[in-house]
Amino acid sequence: MCGIVGIVSNKSVSSSIVDALKKLEYRGYDSAGISTLNKGFIDEKKCSGRVENLEKILFENPSIGDLGIGHVRWATHGVPNKINAHPHSTEQVSVVHNGIIENSDKLKKEYESKGYIFKSQTDTEVITVILTDYLKTENLIDSIYKTLNKLIGSFALGVIFKDFEDVVVGARRGSPLAVGYGHNENFLGSDSYALKTMTNKISYLDDGDFCLLYKEKIEFYNFDKKKINKKIFELSNEENIAEKGDYKDFMSKEIDEQSYTTKKCIHEYLDQSRNKINIYNIPINPSKINKIRLVACGTAYHSCLMAKYWIEEFTSIDVEADIASEFRYRNVKLNKDDLYIFVSQSGETADTYAALEKCKKRGLKTCGIVNVVESSIARLSDFVLPIHAGPEIGVASTKAFIGQMMVLLLLTLKISKDRNDLNENNYKKLISEIKILPSLIKKTLSKQKEIQQIARDFINAKGTMYLGRGYSYPIAMEGALKLKELSYIHAEGYAAGEMKHGPLALIEDGMPIVVLAPKDRFFEKTISNMQEVIARGGKVLMITNDTSEILNENIRFKFQLPDTDSRISAFLLTIPMQFLAYHVALLKNCDIDKPRNLAKSVTVE
Ligand code: F6R
Repeated sequence: MCGIVGIVSNKSVSSSIVDALKKLEYRGYDSAGISTLNKGFIDEKKCSGRVENLEKILFENPSIGDLGIGHVRWATHGVPNKINAHPHSTEQVSVVHNGIIENSDKLKKEYESKGYIFKSQTDTEVITVILTDYLKTENLIDSIYKTLNKLIGSFALGVIFKDFEDVVVGARRGSPLAVGYGHNENFLGSDSYALKTMTNKISYLDDGDFCLLYKEKIEFYNFDKKKINKKIFELSNEENIAEKGDYKDFMSKEIDEQSYTTKKCIHEYLDQSRNKINIYNIPINPSKINKIRLVACGTAYHSCLMAKYWIEEFTSIDVEADIASEFRYRNVKLNKDDLYIFVSQSGETADTYAALEKCKKRGLKTCGIVNVVESSIARLSDFVLPIHAGPEIGVASTKAFIGQMMVLLLLTLKISKDRNDLNENNYKKLISEIKILPSLIKKTLSKQKEIQQIARDFINAKGTMYLGRGYSYPIAMEGALKLKELSYIHAEGYAAGEMKHGPLALIEDGMPIVVLAPKDRFFEKTISNMQEVIARGGKVLMITNDTSEILNENIRFKFQLPDTDSRISAFLLTIPMQFLAYHVALLKNCDIDKPRNLAKSVTVE
């Protein structure tokens, strides 16, 4: 995680660096810093906390210089204080880093024995020291090259030098890094969004690449020190729209956009007049797919769990959903007749990327489902399906989750249709329900106030549980994840039928419990599980499209969903889950877009 910026220009760079850092704060926000090159010396300023703290320091004592680097940190090695904040500098070199140097302890010892003294607890400082040491005997390119070769781990770097007054260096292994082209200035950034106000012309470094940014040119080198050329991408307008507008925070904006983003996603993949799903180039002929393996982290993993239910229901294909951090190290039996699907909003999540790499190395057929189409996962996958949700800035994923589910559902139906697994009537029924989903989402979004009112029940809770069965179970898990990350209340998503096997012991008088009970084939069973909870004092918030009145007296609150085909009720169930997490967090005065200890793009293991 962490965000990196670098700029070389013919004018002062510090305010542009700070602006770009603000855009990167979603990647980490526990400390911030900047180094500029000012008349032959490196001027480093840093602080703990947010970029606004850095701004205050710069207001009192401005940084001067036409070239510089900046950083927002998500701590991995060493507490988030000023000393551990980046940049890390010697008199010769200043470095910002995103990622982890796995052999930093060993390298530290090696360089301590040469007489170097380390000031911080970070893994990053070794890079500064190694570069400084090489520069005593080597030229610039060889110093960079040899330093990179000593590092084990994943990283993206930005570097400036006292004695090379016209260059900013960038390097990438594992963690993303983009460069931007300007007039008489060039830029480095952890993503293109950080550079959006400065340029819309972008190239991406690949693993092992490093680059030298000068005012008038950019030189790229690969891991072999060979000069290479890079494709230049022009960012679309959409990538340039990521402002809060009148919304209080990005999360409320992103929740509100979901009717529109779902409509857009459906429009991209569904020929609505012919009821045909336009997904071609699946890397294995659908009729030959032996098994589907879905791999992702966090919320994206929950979309995979949901897809597992759909694939089981609508196709005759065996399916597994895996957490990427486990999949990458497990001895999974990989098979060339299986389709491997990697789901990631950012397309940069380190574990998901590593899992994809593992499959690519074995020559397996891979599909990436991403929001960021220029991302590393998109570029490495054989076949990419964008979710078309537009930039998601709030750390808690909302519209991307709905988008991931929609693409996975359409892909499932496409595969199912091609294999003749689903009969025509069933297919048509589902497609017609999908077509009206955006309007049902809109209707559900309009009921926000109801959830806002019930949110108060949760703010003092020691903990809570989200219960669901079948299609509702992945959504129960997602609801619980949203509440924990935003409001810091302990929450677990459980298969309702599992309660009596242990978790029921946790129910205490007055404990708020969320029950997802769409009118599906599990409905009666879910209701029985709910009664068991109520009998033990649980205060139930029930989310359902059932309209009967019978149960009402036992339930603290019933949130009425619009009616839909129960197999796709997940899209509607998700919305009250998001509202609940949002309003509980708001009542607790939590930072909605930047929950503590988290970051949006998890580019470390
Ligand atoms: C939770 C959340 C995370 C991400 C996870 C994977 O709200 O956002 O759990 O879903 O870190 O991120 P991506 O989808 O970028 O791979």
